[in-house]
Amino acid sequence: MGKIIGIVSGKGGVGKTTLAINLGVALAKYFNKNITVVDCNLTTSHLGLYLGMYYCPLTLNKVLRGDNSIEEAVYEHFSGIKVVPASLSLADLEGIDILNLPEKVREISEINDIILLDSSPGLGREAMGTLKACDEVIFVTTPFVPCVMDIIRCKEVCDELGITQLGIVLNQVSKEKYEMSPKEIEQLTRLPVIAIIPYDKNIKKSLAIKTPLVIYKPNSKASKEFLKLSAFLIGEKYQQLSIFSRLIERIKSRFRKKEVFFPQPI
Ligand SMILES: Nc1ncnc2c1ncn2[C@@H]1O[C@H](COP(=O)(O)OP(=O)(O)OP(=O)(O)O)[C@@H](O)[C@H]1O
Ligand SMILES: [Mg+2]
Repeated sequence: MGKIIGIVSGKGGVGKTTLAINLGVALAKYFNKNITVVDCNLTTSHLGLYLGMYYCPLTLNKVLRGDNSIEEAVYEHFSGIKVVPASLSLADLEGIDILNLPEKVREISEINDIILLDSSPGLGREAMGTLKACDEVIFVTTPFVPCVMDIIRCKEVCDELGITQLGIVLNQVSKEKYEMSPKEIEQLTRLPVIAIIPYDKNIKKSLAIKTPLVIYKPNSKASKEFLKLSAFLIGEKYQQLSIFSRLIERIKSRFRKKEVFFPQPI
């Protein structure tokens, strides 16, 4: 049985989707794990958009509505991960119940090492559906008080639900004086900071070319942190990529820029 890990946050826009993608790709590509990333952010779904998957006829919406099985809505992405996208159409929100998510996700847990659930922010019904579906959570925050305070609320809900909390990923860190330090965040939340991802313009560039950062710039500082975190999650040692692998990835990503990706369900 694979682990189901929720990527959650109190505040929106802190980097959950970016983390879910790069963690998933790092685990699949560099550690040979079977990874599926599920877009549980139904109202503002971005996972497919970030991965260049613009038209996916079968989505999590249809699975939750009972029209399709979850296996039918799994797409293989060139980066090595499998993806269950959510619909981009507002009309597809009708007639679905996110609280069906736990039972649906369990159906693919045997064929995966890890399933990453990309949550919507906050503690509304959608985010609660994700929390109820996962075994473990990773909290994502930027180093600012409001975001960190929201994590404390999420933590309280996770405590009540008995969900294992792996810790906090501190994202978009610029090491400015006005930012909260990892130590302060740990003291305030009583959670360990398990990764510190720097603010990196390459993340925005990788988004523009629809190629996960760990493939586009595998040797960037942020990529190294994604790789370290993925190694930590599976209890393996992080090793920097060899010059040869970095060169191959760079050449491949040059050609990939021109590719248009039309996903097919598997
Ligand atoms: N470390 C980083 N450095 C620079 N930009 C980043 C970083 N992490 C994320 N971003 C950018 O911040 C924006 C928000 O990221 P993302 O969509 O992953 O957040 P989110 O938490 O999933 O948002 P939402 O709550 O809306 O689902 C994106 O434009 C992304 O490219
Ligand atoms: Mg998101």
